[in-house]
Amino acid sequence: MSHSKESDELVFFVNGRKVIERNPDPEVNLLFYLRKNLHLSGTKYACGGGGCGACTVMVSRYNPKTKKIHHYPATACLVPICSLHGAAVTTVEGVGSIKTRIHPVQERLAKCHGTQCGFCSPGMVMSIYTLLRNHPEPTPDQITEALGGNLCRCTGYRPIIESGKTFCVESTLCQRKGSGKCCMDQDERSFVNKPEKICTKLYNEDEFRPFDPSQEPIFPPELIRMAEDPNKRRLTFQGERTSWIMPVTLEDVLELKASFPKAPLIMGNTAVGPSIKFKDVFYPVFISPLGLPELYFVDTIDDGVTIGAGYSLAQLNDALLFTVLEQPKEKTKTYHALLKHLRTLAGAQIRNMSTVGGHVVSRPSFSDLNPILAAGNATINLRSKEGERQIPLNSHFLERSPEADLKSEEIVLSVYIPYSTQWDFVSGLRLAQRQENASAIVNAGMSVKFEDGTNTIKDLKMFYGGVGPTVVSASQTCKQLIGRHWDDQMLSDACRLVLDEIYIPPEAKGGMVEYRRTLIISLLFKFYLKVRQELNKIDPQKFPDIPEKFMSALEDFPIETPQGLQMFECVDPRQPPQDPVGHPIMHQSAIKHATGEAVFCDDMPPIANELFLAVVTSTRAHAKIMSIETSEALALPGVVDIITADDVPGDNNYHGEVFYAQNKVICVGQIVCTVAADTYAHAKAAAKKVKITYEDIEPKIITIEQALQHNSFLSVERKIEQGNVEQAFRHVDQIIEGEVHVEGQEHFYMETQTILAIPKQEDKEMVLHLGTQFPTHVQEFVAAALNIPRNRVTCCMKRAGGAFGGKVTKPGLLGAISAVAANKTGRPIRFILERGDDMLITAGRHPLLGKYKIGFMNNGVIKAADVEYYVNGGCTPDESEMVVEFIVLKSENAYYIPHFRCRGRACKTNLPSNTAFRGFGFPQATVVVEAYVTAVASQCNLLPEEVKEINMYKRTTKTAHKQTFNPEPLRRCWKECLEKSAFYARKQAAEEFNKENYWKKRGLAVVPMKFTIGVPVTYYNQAAALVHIYLDGSVLVTHGGCELGQGLYTKMSQVASRELNIPQSYIHLSETSTITVPNASFTAGSMATDINGKAVQNACQILMARLQPVIRKNPKGKWEDWIAKAFEESISLSATGYFKGYKTNMDWEKKEGEAFPYFVYGAVCSEVEVDCLTGAHKLRRTDIFMDAAFSINPALDIGQIEGAFIQGMGLYTTEELKYSPEGVLYSRGPDDYKIPTATEIPEEFYVTLVRSRNPIAIYSSKGLGEAGMFMGCSVLLAINDAVTAARKERGLTKTFTLSSPVTPEFIRMTCVDQFTDMIPRDDPSTFTPWSIHVS
Ligand SMILES: Cc1cc2nc3c(=O)[nH]c(=O)nc-3n(C[C@H](O)[C@H](O)[C@H](O)COP(=O)(O)OP(=O)(O)OC[C@H]3O[C@@H](n4cnc5c(N)ncnc54)[C@H](O)[C@@H]3O)c2cc1C
Ligand code: FES
Ligand code: FES
Repeated sequence: MSHSKESDELVFFVNGRKVIERNPDPEVNLLFYLRKNLHLSGTKYACGGGGCGACTVMVSRYNPKTKKIHHYPATACLVPICSLHGAAVTTVEGVGSIKTRIHPVQERLAKCHGTQCGFCSPGMVMSIYTLLRNHPEPTPDQITEALGGNLCRCTGYRPIIESGKTFCVESTLCQRKGSGKCCMDQDERSFVNKPEKICTKLYNEDEFRPFDPSQEPIFPPELIRMAEDPNKRRLTFQGERTSWIMPVTLEDVLELKASFPKAPLIMGNTAVGPSIKFKDVFYPVFISPLGLPELYFVDTIDDGVTIGAGYSLAQLNDALLFTVLEQPKEKTKTYHALLKHLRTLAGAQIRNMSTVGGHVVSRPSFSDLNPILAAGNATINLRSKEGERQIPLNSHFLERSPEADLKSEEIVLSVYIPYSTQWDFVSGLRLAQRQENASAIVNAGMSVKFEDGTNTIKDLKMFYGGVGPTVVSASQTCKQLIGRHWDDQMLSDACRLVLDEIYIPPEAKGGMVEYRRTLIISLLFKFYLKVRQELNKIDPQKFPDIPEKFMSALEDFPIETPQGLQMFECVDPRQPPQDPVGHPIMHQSAIKHATGEAVFCDDMPPIANELFLAVVTSTRAHAKIMSIETSEALALPGVVDIITADDVPGDNNYHGEVFYAQNKVICVGQIVCTVAADTYAHAKAAAKKVKITYEDIEPKIITIEQALQHNSFLSVERKIEQGNVEQAFRHVDQIIEGEVHVEGQEHFYMETQTILAIPKQEDKEMVLHLGTQFPTHVQEFVAAALNIPRNRVTCCMKRAGGAFGGKVTKPGLLGAISAVAANKTGRPIRFILERGDDMLITAGRHPLLGKYKIGFMNNGVIKAADVEYYVNGGCTPDESEMVVEFIVLKSENAYYIPHFRCRGRACKTNLPSNTAFRGFGFPQATVVVEAYVTAVASQCNLLPEEVKEINMYKRTTKTAHKQTFNPEPLRRCWKECLEKSAFYARKQAAEEFNKENYWKKRGLAVVPMKFTIGVPVTYYNQAAALVHIYLDGSVLVTHGGCELGQGLYTKMSQVASRELNIPQSYIHLSETSTITVPNASFTAGSMATDINGKAVQNACQILMARLQPVIRKNPKGKWEDWIAKAFEESISLSATGYFKGYKTNMDWEKKEGEAFPYFVYGAVCSEVEVDCLTGAHKLRRTDIFMDAAFSINPALDIGQIEGAFIQGMGLYTTEELKYSPEGVLYSRGPDDYKIPTATEIPEEFYVTLVRSRNPIAIYSSKGLGEAGMFMGCSVLLAINDAVTAARKERGLTKTFTLSSPVTPEFIRMTCVDQFTDMIPRDDPSTFTPWSIHVS
């Protein structure tokens, strides 16, 4: 930070150390500052917009008025450093470190297996740590609430919450629904039927160090002195382009506001920060009145409460909670409504940063509080140099009418929220894609005031968010209803009127138009019912209650702290205690993850002379590049060079993948050029100034349907066939045909793609450090791009912050991009994709269209199936052909259909190229299978589970591609799942529930799974390892696999420990590199442990064989003695190990082959409840039975299963990628792409590893990295079951088309009722929708 103008010194503390910044730049945020200036890299970047929690830190401030220290969690990416003057920041490094002492929060997160890739872990630690600073003995609900703003893509959250729960005073074990009994008591769980062999403890809590809250660091006394200094003066921090002014008195603020009317008041910065970052808004001056006493108060008066504008939403929550406890319920109806929304508004970090004033003034269109405040007649107290005035927080204010708004020189001092009265009723209603930490799709604040003692409307207010650019009021509707009785006729008129008044045009931004229209009246209906119920409570004689069947419509789903049990086979007591195989060993990096000391690529310290790279991507889907104008960009400060296709010395188009766009672009998001500059900020600013002109090329193909119309394909058709399908169709009782659409999925690995490319001075060598699943591929692409032999390119990979298939091929492309830049500039290149760019450029899971024709008998036996699959491959081949092959080979799943034809083809479109993703096509294709099985069941009047069982593989037989297998474990998993989940009993209970509840429905589904690992090409399954023994006895193991969070290194260390018969502490794994193991295969397809394990085993066995003579001579000797002796005897202590690969093959001509080495089986049962009025759902319980054969590490395997299940659940429910009809991806961050949070996971979650044999794999284990993904489909099917129940009750018996994801929109619009019938519908030919489906 160096700029010339006069600046005051910024003083704050980080981890107890004083930081004095002489030239603080207001544009720099704390995350950047910590990582780049202070080199504290524990705090992570994953989104930059406050939506993921990876950058969580604790901020502590001293309040001189109350003399109290306030600790709160904050997302460092939204904290301007200038706002920290006088504050103390604690980062994960300040909580604990391996070098000094790890904190119990860190220790427990690690030991409870709450880290996998570890990228989210520092944020998780900080959220729990901050909670403990404020509540040393938290309740389980407080733990869940504290974690609501932290995303984890790996673990499925269960172990993270469990680690937090170990701090609760209540039993850390589960309390089954308050019964006080723990489900870990084995006799409580009927299905733990072999207690002597089944283990349920993945960690030993006796090992945990006790937590002593008195040992935490003290707040720096210097900051107390600073805060209490009576001579505080205005400070000004002068940045490169902006100034930050910190007034110390109210008068000063008002003076400044008058002088700089356009300057924002920066409070939480949660509205201003994102607008600067994502919308390119620029402010030359910021005014920061943080800490000004006049803004921080709560004042309870006779008729309401006044809250200071500086109060955070978390403080507002506390103040309201206090008031509702103090005051009678009838006075606090508005407060109750606000409290309900405050629980789910964003995450704890944002609630602690955002302020009341900021919220009210920024008026987000999705605001959860403003509609309620308006309905509750709140007023805003304003202050300017002219004096004070009040304005109502009403429709004019919310709709931003200039005459009702603040004047530019005014500030909000406070907000006054009046009490309600007996005849006032106020509610807040909302629906979001996900229950917590997701802005509402539609929300509402409604209030009604009746003439005393009657149900005659005296005043009515209805405010809606999410229906237009601002919160809007249905004031005309409300006016017309005054004087009406609160009855069904009024409701019906109100619905009609409000739909007329609030019109969402068909092409409206945000899409979901018909759904939003339906929500407008569905939420109104909920309010209507609620008020009727309240009236009835006042006078049951006068006001009849609502029908019992409608009661459940009133409440939103509660947020429960999840609980569950994990069951696995205990280690044979005869196994030597030192042998770690089979034990739930903690991830070898877990402690480092939790302390933030695990080094990810961008955590590597700066390299001398390094440059940062920013991308310029295509804004057109298919167009000629007419010109690239770079002069303006090149002239900007810090810019060193702009790199284009012309700078690629070798192949720019390699194996169909284009590095830098040349002459034309083939998708939105294709990299056209990159800018290299001295800082990322400079590179990015310059990238925005590069001007590219295009000329569109026709056709522009976005969807599968368009690709089929244009015959646009990336690969040939793949097909397998058995029996005689045509003939079979002639002999069946019934035939059904249908289509199923499954949309794509974003990997959303927490660590975006990161690359450090370092050109060496000699021999054109290039070294790349990156997070990848396939270093060999990166090496290949870089060598091709630079036109050098592969032996000049080194790719090093220590760990990746999640990958899930997204780092198989894409790092090759991005590696080439950065290596070309490094080559051209001759300087190291740091290339860190921002989240939005990552989502745009790297694409994800293939959207799929499945078409089926099924012939079956009336008893449910399926005789014939003819299924076609098309995937949207995007613009280049990538791995689309392999995805199609996997779909065709695996999609029969667990069902035997004697006459079966399955075809698949990858479509070429103008979307970014889709790629590998956990499950590789299987999770999409099997939705189609489950859809037709369910449709058959419906036609035969049977339960889907009955049809599944009837058609399931039963004995040793051949798959459709003629691979023999024994489905015994499949049958076992299925049977256990049905029995131990008590499926039939619960199904009946759900039916009873459904009879009694009209607006909420429960559904269950059980799904069997037959999955395969590996690939049908033997040489892809080969692996190598290199094991060195050093003279002190320590062992270094390297192999070709990549550590992505799955715990591969941990398992390899377990293997080496067993094979060398030494403790794991002797063994170290450092990194994967193309230098130590060349030509390694990708780490994907669930086979990394299998193949690398065999290679490591082989290397260790070679070494042990060499050592045998030495050991025989000194059998009682120690390992160290043998090694020393071996060296003296010139025995080589280094060996490569090799595994040739499983013998797999597939002959596509003959349509047969031993395609996969073995099968993984499983079964899963899920139960959900859906809210038919809003489309929300709650996952009540999931039971997974997974055939793990022998688990090398049950903690890691269960972690993979749970994590994959939750990721699958996301695919099938909340995760929805939105594209414009022009092929522009809208979903570019956590704000508009919703992966599951801790709230979405099953309330009860049981996972059982089922024992079987698998002699082909190492230690008879099975690869379980992907299998759980598909199991998330049980949630989709359970939702389908619930929705079917709703439809049946409404007289709709026709099967509806299942598709994925089953979003709230899908659920609501499929639960057809009087409200969906009432909304206006648009003729699709008359408008262009905002977004389209691409499957
Ligand atoms: C990740 C994320 C998730 C979110 N989720 C939700 C959600 O689910 N529901 C929801 O309702 N909201 C949500 N929000 C929005 C959030 O509630 C608002 O951004 C926040 O309330 C703004 O407050 P602030 O203090 O951060 O404002 P700032 O960003 O500091 O300021 C915002 C504006 O208010 C003005 N201002 C601030 N204080 C005053 C004052 N005293 N007088 C005059 N002007 C003032 C500023 O000049 C500025 O123009 C989310 C935000 C983020 C970043
Ligand atoms: S990086 Fe800050 S919240 Fe995501
Ligand atoms: S461990 Fe949470 S994101 Fe990987």
